[in-house]
This record gives sequence, structure tokens and C-alpha cells, in this order.
Amino acid sequence: MSLAEEHVKTAVRWSIGHALPRTVLRMQARRGDLQGRITVEASTGADLTGLFDEIRARGPLAATKVGHTTARHAVVREILTNDALVTTRPRYGAGILGKLAAWSARDITHPVQPPSLLVVEPPQHTRYRKLVTRVFTARAVEQLRERTQAIADELLDSLDPANPVDLIETYCGLLPVTVISEILGVPPEDRATVLALGGAAAPSLDLGLSWRVFRNVETTLSTFDAWLTRHLDALRANPGDNLLSRLITAREDGAGLTDRELKSTAGLVLAAGFETTVNLLGNGISLLTRNPAQLETLRSRPELWGNAVDEVLRVDPPVLMTGRMCSRDTTIAGIPVRPGQFVTAVLAAANRDPEVFADPHAFDVTRENARDHVSFGAGRHYCLGAQLARMEGEIGLRSIFERFPGLRPLPGAHRRPTRILRGFERLPTSLRS
Ligand code: HEM
Repeated sequence: MSLAEEHVKTAVRWSIGHALPRTVLRMQARRGDLQGRITVEASTGADLTGLFDEIRARGPLAATKVGHTTARHAVVREILTNDALVTTRPRYGAGILGKLAAWSARDITHPVQPPSLLVVEPPQHTRYRKLVTRVFTARAVEQLRERTQAIADELLDSLDPANPVDLIETYCGLLPVTVISEILGVPPEDRATVLALGGAAAPSLDLGLSWRVFRNVETTLSTFDAWLTRHLDALRANPGDNLLSRLITAREDGAGLTDRELKSTAGLVLAAGFETTVNLLGNGISLLTRNPAQLETLRSRPELWGNAVDEVLRVDPPVLMTGRMCSRDTTIAGIPVRPGQFVTAVLAAANRDPEVFADPHAFDVTRENARDHVSFGAGRHYCLGAQLARMEGEIGLRSIFERFPGLRPLPGAHRRPTRILRGFERLPTSLRS
């Protein structure tokens, strides 16, 4: 393919996948459509609780231009466990959009393109997920606990309390990616490369990307794909004590994962760890510094740190919402949903449902049912990294507040402009007492 043709295809992919949906959503938001409003208002970093209440007041399943949305906890769970509602990416039909999408499609490992676990459905999803969960066991995650603590300690050692620091850059981002490097068996000499690739590929989980970010993501994903091909070959020849090596040899009824599935899992694990756990840590630091009484409670009752992580996930979840496409006639909360309709489950809003959480807007680390949040989703696509994220969240937050008890935020904190993924881009902090 010539360079010019490649460039045109890239532009078409961006137009169909990002520019067009963004324009449509903005237009719909201006007309008051709830789906458009939530997507547009999310990118401003604004407090969305008023909008969540508005959606909830419109009933269990509120109508939108393209389907339905919900802010209710029970309905979110119903959507995510319904077999008729599937995770496939938007289809563009047999018309001109569909033809352009097919012509410009690119065969590259991408966290939200098949065969990524996130977007495949049974029976492929069942077989594939079984193999991955065989390796991502509770025991395997527990074995990473000590190493995660050591990584957190090393990162904290390198912080100089005499100077203000941006904790996103120096701590929240580095902790998860170093843990992921262990999981993927990345040799020390490749760590910096993987770190840079992960950072640049992270926005791939979002929608409505700008042309510049989209191009950067695509180039990075190609480089990551090439690196993974070499890395998988190296692990095959010389397996190590890491989860990716175990995944290469995992078998179910005699069959294992294909190379594409292996690469896709590695890519998803990298992007998910980069873009979600960093937000859990950043959102947690922000919430705890703004609520000193809660920090005091944790100081006197450190056994509550695990619960505090769930309360952070409930109040300020890293993933705002997820969507499903209806594949056949079904009902949700007794309301008919038709094939082709798009249904969004607003996870962050369900976490504030007063039917489930008393005084839902209060941040309370002693809350007994904090763990009932839906920040990791539900049903067959329930987050595979939930246990790992909880463990990293607990170690990451507890360690920094124990090491720097006088930690306080400085002006200049800034939230990311991403729509689906919610967290801080910068968190300037003083570590001095
Ligand atoms: C605080 C951190 C995290 C949050 C809030 C989070 C959230 C989520 C959510 C909401 C889903 C379901 C999406 C949907 O139903 O459409 C999901 C799926 C997934 N997550 Fe996470 N995640 C986190 C960390 C991680 C980590 C560290 C990993 C890496 C091991 C990971 C790997 C995955 C995978 C592989 C899936 C797809 C599972 C499937 O489709 O079967 N996540 N995550």
C-alpha cells in the first residue's frame, strides 16, 4: 500500500470511529439528549452528580436518541448480565459508512477490537476467558503482593519531600505499569520502551479522540504489536516465572490461545492497567486529602484500607460507563429494547443509587456495603483485573499516606479530558509535614 493510500485510510478510520461520533454526540447534547450530554459533559471534568440524578429521575431506563441509558444500580446489573445485549463495536451497516469502514479497517492488536476479551461474545468469549482466568487466579495475584509493595517502596524512596511533586507522573502511573511489566515478563532493558508504549496507547480505550492523539495511538499500537511478536517468541523459547509465559502454555480441552489472542490479552492488560489503576490511585489520593477525617479513621483502623479502596472506587470510579448493543428483542426493567439500539450503563451513577447506598454522595471509608459498587462492571465481562487493581490500590494508597503523613495537595490539580476514563492528569502535591 502506498503512503498516500495509508494516510487516507487512517483519516477515514478516524473520521468514522472518532470525529463523526463526537460531532453527533455534541449535536445531540445541545438538543438535551441524555446520551450526548453525559459524553460531552464528562470531557469537561465537571461534577456529574446532578446529571446522574436527572437520568435516575427519568425512570429505570431513560430513552436516548440511539437507545437507552440508566443510572440505577439494579438496571446496570440487568443490562450487563443480559445475553441479548452484546459488546460489539458499532456496526455501520451495508451502506457507504459500512463500505468505508471495511475498506479502511486495519488488522492490528487493539484493546477494543476483536479478539480483545472486552469486545468478543460467547462462545468465543467463554473459551478465551476460561483460559485467561486459569492464569489470572487469586493465588497468582496474591503472589504479586510482595513485589507490588517492594515497587511502591522503591518509588516512594525516590521522591524528595523537599520539593513539590506531581504524583500522577512520579507514583500513580509508575506503580501499575511496573506491576504489569512483571505480569507480562518484560525484561528490565525493555521496561522503558513498554512504559512509553503503554502511556501513548492508553487513550485507545476512549472515544472521540482528536486526530493527533488518534495517529499517535495507532503508531504506538503498531510498535507495540511488533514488540509483542518478538517478546512472545522470546518467552516461548525461554519461559519465565510470569503470567504471560503461563498464558502461552494454558490449554482448555487441548486448545490454547492463538497468537492474536495472546497479543490482544497482553495489550488489554497493559492499557487497562495504565489507564484505570492510575486513576484509582490518583482519585484516591485526591479524595483522602480532601477528607482528612477519613484519613484519621484509617490511621487508627488500618484494617479498613481495603474497604477504603472500594469506597474510592464507588465515589470516583475510573470507568464512567460502558455500553452494549442490542442483538435481538429483549426487555430491561420490563421495557422493550429493540435490535440495533445502544444501551449505556452509567456505572458511576449506579454507585450513587440511594436505593443501595445510604447517603450516597458521602465518602465514608467505614461504609459496610462499599464493595457493592459496579465500578468493575458485572456479568460475563466483569473486570478480570479487579483483584489485582484492589491489591495495587490498597498497597499504593496505604504506603504513600504512611510514608508521607503530611501529604497535601497544591494548586494546579487537573483532570484528564478523556470521556469514559476518569481521573487526574496532574496532581501537584507537597510531601512535607
Ligand atoms: C481500578 C482499576 C480497574 C477498573 C475500574 C476496571 C474496570 C473494568 C470494567 C468496568 C470492565 C468491564 C467493561 C465492560 O463491561 O464493558 C473491565 C473489564 C476488563 N478489565 Fe478492568 N478495570 C481495572 C483494572 C484492570 C487491570 C489492572 C486489568 C489487568 C489485569 C484489567 C483487565 C480487564 C480485562 C481483561 C477486562 C475484560 C474482561 C472481559 O471482557 O471478559 N482491568 N474492567
